[in-house]
Amino acid sequence: MKRFQQLSQEFSTYFNINHFPDQPETLYGAASYMIADGGKRVRPVLCLLGNELFGPLVADTWKTATAIELFHNFTLIHDDIMDKAPLRRGRPTVHARYDEPTALLAGDVMLLRVYEYLNQTDPRHAQTLIKLLNKTGREVCEGQQMDMDFEKTPVITPDQYLQMIELKTAVFLAASLQMGAEIAGATHSDQQHIYAFGKNIGLAFQVQDDWLDSFGDPATFGKQNGGDILANKKTFLLVHALANGSGEEKLKIEDLMNSSPADKIEKMIALYKQTGADQAASLAKQHYIEKAFSHLGLIEVAAENKTALLELADYLLERSI
Ligand code: IPE
Ligand code: IPE
Ligand code: MG
Ligand code: MG
Ligand code: MG
Repeated sequence: MKRFQQLSQEFSTYFNINHFPDQPETLYGAASYMIADGGKRVRPVLCLLGNELFGPLVADTWKTATAIELFHNFTLIHDDIMDKAPLRRGRPTVHARYDEPTALLAGDVMLLRVYEYLNQTDPRHAQTLIKLLNKTGREVCEGQQMDMDFEKTPVITPDQYLQMIELKTAVFLAASLQMGAEIAGATHSDQQHIYAFGKNIGLAFQVQDDWLDSFGDPATFGKQNGGDILANKKTFLLVHALANGSGEEKLKIEDLMNSSPADKIEKMIALYKQTGADQAASLAKQHYIEKAFSHLGLIEVAAENKTALLELADYLLERSI
């Protein structure tokens, strides 16, 4: 078993405790429902690997990884409300299972728990970790707002798309790695490179997430296939198709965005294939992965310490869930 898989399992065991009190049952039941054996645990594993790159794992990194996974799940509960998503991880979303007010509060209370965990870490780095999480959280809000605004914007440039996914997704993967590195006492320069590595992995990760929404296998994907298409999300595929399609293809896409016929998803996917958007997604992932690896190469630790991160990056971009 690869190191990242081992850590993912170990983290899941560590994380599988009651994080919340019992009452009110609806509030804490909803919060616990969200985190019950779910997800790939990518960000906490990045935090653990960020520590391991520079030294042996310490208790504070496990605490921080817990905070990170709770923060991630908080963003997902709210994201599913914003995206009107019915399914996540193969189950009804929190707002679908409970209701929207309960889901909002479950997310809020989860976010507060994040700070309780971070405050338990050594005062030598607690403030640094909280500062980095706060900056990242603000950026995620900015990216999520852009994502929502873009639903109503007819055309988004590739640069605007890139800025949006950097903020909503990539910076959090980057910060997760940097937090682990900070706890392990990595130098400023190494922390900058691990952050840049994570940011580029994160860009590729969101391109893959966009690709899966259209091309993922419904049997394993766990979310509603084509949800992005129904919401006119400016995904990598849509942005690419609008930027590179022929005049006729662009008109067909714009028509679909404005009319929402019953076969909107199938028609849009056909246009993505026709305009080469799916192949462009592979090339884009490759591009960001190479950038990520060049930053990893500049980190001043023995090459064998980097293997686990290289393996995790490869897995993330080929994943089917
Ligand atoms: C989903 O993240 C949200 C994105 C930023 C694309 P993950 O794909 O890591 O979600 P889980 O935790 O594994 O379900
Ligand atoms: C999610 O992007 C980004 C955050 C949760 C911050 P998506 O909306 O594409 O994520 P999924 O596809 O619902 O997991
Ligand atoms: Mg979503
Ligand atoms: Mg979203
Ligand atoms: Mg998505």
